[in-house]
Amino acid sequence: MYVTKSITSLLLGVSAVTAAVLPRQINSTGLFKTTTTNTTLPPVSLDSDNFIIRAQQLNDTSITLGYMYAEYAYPPGYYATLRPSKSDAIVGHLTDTTNASNSSLVFGDRDPEGFVLYPLASNANASIARIFSGQQGTKGVYVNEAGIVDWASQRVSWYACDQALEWGEATDIWYKLMNVATPRNCVDIQLIAEFVSS
Ligand SMILES: *[C@@H]1O[C@H](CO)[C@@H](O)[C@H](O)[C@H]1NC(C)=O
Ligand SMILES: *[C@@H]1O[C@H](CO)[C@@H](O)[C@H](O)[C@H]1NC(C)=O
Ligand SMILES: *[C@@H]1O[C@H](CO)[C@@H](O)[C@H](O)[C@H]1NC(C)=O
Ligand SMILES: *[C@@H]1O[C@H](CO)[C@@H](O)[C@H](O)[C@H]1NC(C)=O
Ligand SMILES: *[C@@H]1O[C@H](CO)[C@@H](O)[C@H](O)[C@H]1NC(C)=O
Ligand SMILES: *[C@@H]1O[C@H](CO)[C@@H](O)[C@H](O)[C@H]1NC(C)=O
Repeated sequence: MYVTKSITSLLLGVSAVTAAVLPRQINSTGLFKTTTTNTTLPPVSLDSDNFIIRAQQLNDTSITLGYMYAEYAYPPGYYATLRPSKSDAIVGHLTDTTNASNSSLVFGDRDPEGFVLYPLASNANASIARIFSGQQGTKGVYVNEAGIVDWASQRVSWYACDQALEWGEATDIWYKLMNVATPRNCVDIQLIAEFVSS
């Protein structure tokens, strides 16, 4: 019994190491700039590596509230929500790692789904985040040096609300102007990009 047990724990230890996902560097384009001769290079992809997005409670970073998921609901379309299981997380990438203002967040490869934020104003000071099939994401969405998803176009903060969408319970991802109070029963969050191997 003792032997069986120790072999099992050894195997678990090995597979845990193998399964570890190490963050990868976002920028790969810099490598091409060291060339001294004028050779014609193929267009450099500005895309980032793939990542999933983990929502962490703003005032307690030990609390993970879930992973970004595209929930289909009414009015027809996808809404950014949180799912507790990492295996449900949708995989995205940025479209420009060199210029935050030109960057957008897109999920999937074959039929890209853009992460869409509408500009906020004093009379529309918060909104649920959307994800649109076959559309570009909103420009200015990028990941900062700390690995946090941010929007360069407007200063906003993120929060999560347990609020049913048309077809059932969901935890929705919202964004608001900085001076706007987080609604009761909602939680301020940070969105953390976690790189995944593709
Ligand atoms: C970006 O690339 C440069 C040059 O290749 C490297 O020195 C730097 O560490 C990289 N930064 C990140 C965040 O990957
Ligand atoms: C490379 O191209 C630039 C601009 O076209 C030119 O000014 C430069 O002289 C070229 N350098 C070489 C080594 O051919
Ligand atoms: C914006 O990003 C796209 C790639 O998504 C790139 O083709 C384009 O040149 C970039 N534009 C600017 C102004 O940086
Ligand atoms: C970055 O992208 C924005 C939006 O596309 C563009 O207006 C700006 O010129 C770009 N900046 C640089 C340095 O390419
Ligand atoms: C935000 O908008 C709501 C109505 O949608 C309003 O009650 C509230 O006062 C606004 N907050 C600020 C800080 O403008
Ligand atoms: C942290 O945020 C949660 C959710 O908004 C709130 O219930 C709690 O009171 C906050 N804790 C502190 C210490 O601010």
